[in-house]
Amino acid sequence: MLGLIKEKNKCFLWRFMIDKKYQGKGYGNMALTPVINYVKSLKVFYNIKTSIVSGENCAEGFYRNFGFQDAGEVIKEFRLENSDEIGMKYLF
Ligand SMILES: CC(C)(COP(=O)(O)OP(=O)(O)OC[C@H]1O[C@@H](n2cnc3c(N)ncnc32)[C@H](O)[C@@H]1OP(=O)(O)O)[C@@H](O)C(=O)NCCC(=O)NCCS
Repeated sequence: MLGLIKEKNKCFLWRFMIDKKYQGKGYGNMALTPVINYVKSLKVFYNIKTSIVSGENCAEGFYRNFGFQDAGEVIKEFRLENSDEIGMKYLF
């Protein structure tokens, strides 16, 4: 799911998941690449933000591998202060 708020220049990626049986086979990269290209093609947003929960087998390494970096501001922007979420963003 993508949350796109054009007036505020905010783009947030939600609930990006690959079924457990099919993880580690390249589908995550294959699916996220067109999502990023789509958002880029809109020529409205400067980045895509998301959040992850740290822990064993978490998605953090996947996003870092993809080029996402830490984005502390996400936590406040998306009102996640009372959660264990860590903010990340992909810059165009
Ligand atoms: C995280 C997730 C989306 C990745 O999708 P995937 O199909 O398993 O990942 P891919 O096979 O496309 O891997 C792409 C690259 O990321 C790396 N990677 C994948 N998962 C990783 C992880 N958990 N930690 C570190 N690196 C990871 C792969 O090694 C691969 O690297 P390479 O391109 O250098 O070979 C998927 O595993 C998933 O849905 N996990 C559980 C749910 C989850 O945490 N979702 C987050 C949102 S709630």
